[in-house]
Amino acid sequence: MSEQRRFFSHETLERNVGWLIIATIAAISVAGLVQIVPLFFQHSTTEPSPGVVPYSALRLAGRDIYQREGCVGCHSQQIRTLRSEVERYGPYSLAGESVFDHPFLWGSKRTGPDLARVGGKYSDAWHQIHLNNPRDVVPESNMPAYPWLAKNAADANTIQSHMVAMRRLGVPYTDDDIANAPKELEGKTELDALVAYLQGLGINRRYIIVDEVVAK
Ligand code: HEC
Repeated sequence: MSEQRRFFSHETLERNVGWLIIATIAAISVAGLVQIVPLFFQHSTTEPSPGVVPYSALRLAGRDIYQREGCVGCHSQQIRTLRSEVERYGPYSLAGESVFDHPFLWGSKRTGPDLARVGGKYSDAWHQIHLNNPRDVVPESNMPAYPWLAKNAADANTIQSHMVAMRRLGVPYTDDDIANAPKELEGKTELDALVAYLQGLGINRRYIIVDEVVAK
């Protein structure tokens, strides 16, 4: 007869694969909960960073086009805290900069550069030419051309229902914002909307950093 073992011991786990699986799942679940659940209640992840405001109707429409055209497949929108990234792209991204993003467009691939702080880097005209045919401004570019954007009108029909849906997800659009949305898109092309979207990316934090430097 083997000597008697206590049930609540390491031996029980080490000799019984069923209990080992259950204990492993329990350990990973608890660790996951401890790490992830607090993020839902932390101000740094749930409150907008200073200067971050909901997308205007025009920019929201542009963001839709960004998703439709698959820009996220080649461009990330998340600057990591590494020196090489900060020197190339600007101040690293904060969770509070994405609170109005439904869905997130952080991306995971960089065939092209990160766009998290591309706002204000170029003129509107540069973006228009670049999106129409990237080779006209960057001869070695392998980015696709999007010549149809300038020909299509921005979609004023669905913008209101889109904003209502965003409001349900917590974006503080007012009734006025929603009522005025179609007017904001009047006469605008998809290209106008997309450029407006790009020109606002990341500018909140760029200005804040400048302010901090000026204050010193
Ligand atoms: C097949 C990959 C690919 C796709 C898809 C793509 N891009 Fe690019 N993009 C690039 C590459 C490569 C560059 C760098 C060369 C250049 O500037 O054209 C670039 C550069 C850019 C730049 C300039 C960034 C900077 O800091 O200089 C912007 C803005 C941009 N892309 C926006 C877009 C938008 C908006 C879309 C979707 C409509 C898009 N891209 C789709 C590959 C891509």
